[in-house]
Amino acid sequence: MVFVHLIFLTQNLESLSSLLGILGFRSYSAKKREGSLLFQQNHISIEGRLPSSSHEKESLNKKQGTTIAEFWISTPQEKSLVFDKLGTTIQCLPPNKISEYFESRFYINQDRTDQSHHNFQPILSHIDHVALNIKEEHFSVTSESLRKKLGFVPLAPQKISGHTTSFTCSAFQLPGASFFLVLNTSCDPGSQINDFLNRHNGPGVQHIAFHSENLEASIPYLKQNSIPFIDIPEDYYNTLYKKELTSQEINSLKKAHLLYEPSLNHEGFLKQTFTKNLFGPLFFEIIHRHNLSGFGENNITNLFKALE
Ligand SMILES: [Fe+2]
Repeated sequence: MVFVHLIFLTQNLESLSSLLGILGFRSYSAKKREGSLLFQQNHISIEGRLPSSSHEKESLNKKQGTTIAEFWISTPQEKSLVFDKLGTTIQCLPPNKISEYFESRFYINQDRTDQSHHNFQPILSHIDHVALNIKEEHFSVTSESLRKKLGFVPLAPQKISGHTTSFTCSAFQLPGASFFLVLNTSCDPGSQINDFLNRHNGPGVQHIAFHSENLEASIPYLKQNSIPFIDIPEDYYNTLYKKELTSQEINSLKKAHLLYEPSLNHEGFLKQTFTKNLFGPLFFEIIHRHNLSGFGENNITNLFKALE
């Protein structure tokens, strides 16, 4: 299992804190940096912090209010972390730099205390994948760096085609870990990916997928707590793998507004759904993956067509 640490740069720590509370994160209060909050749930830690330099303020304005400034992934061997600075660079740091970084940033000690999120309920277990929108011309160098420096293994790229535009979704798996990095690219100037790159001033995190073991329970809970999810058309369930699923199973998917996709060998499945954009262009996916390494390409194609 990998440990993922995300750093949100935001001008509104309060709304980030309330969102993460609903998603089941607990906050730390021990010796945090001024203008910074730290949250944790199972293998995921998130830092929310206010911009501290004019460069960060400027970047944040261009990214519309909140962005993932960096994310770190500790590999199972704890040899390296991936580091993404404002969505533009992926680097590998030597291990001694890792503890230096965390100490200087959080001053974490034994005094960890939980602030009150009175309805605390662990919902998420780990981050399944992080999807980045990057420029097509940067794909080869990024891919090479992921493979050679960090040991990620590329999976077969998937082309997602809508009615008029398309993009390519290239996933990289970290062996021995339940973690994927997904790079979205497009040579089509009118595609959603290039629209994101133009509007948000360059590459960045498009979505973060959290794994949850029981979506049928967690999604209604999150909805009741005002997390906005995309609408799934009623028709979707009329044609849903009727040979494989009982009508009771289809009803429970429908009730929780979940998308479903079986693996090709029919031994695995994934269930997933997506929030609406929560911070600027950033949205979350909640996924339950079982013996399947895909990302719901059929579901994404249908949604993509609907969004075009
Ligand atoms: Fe995804």
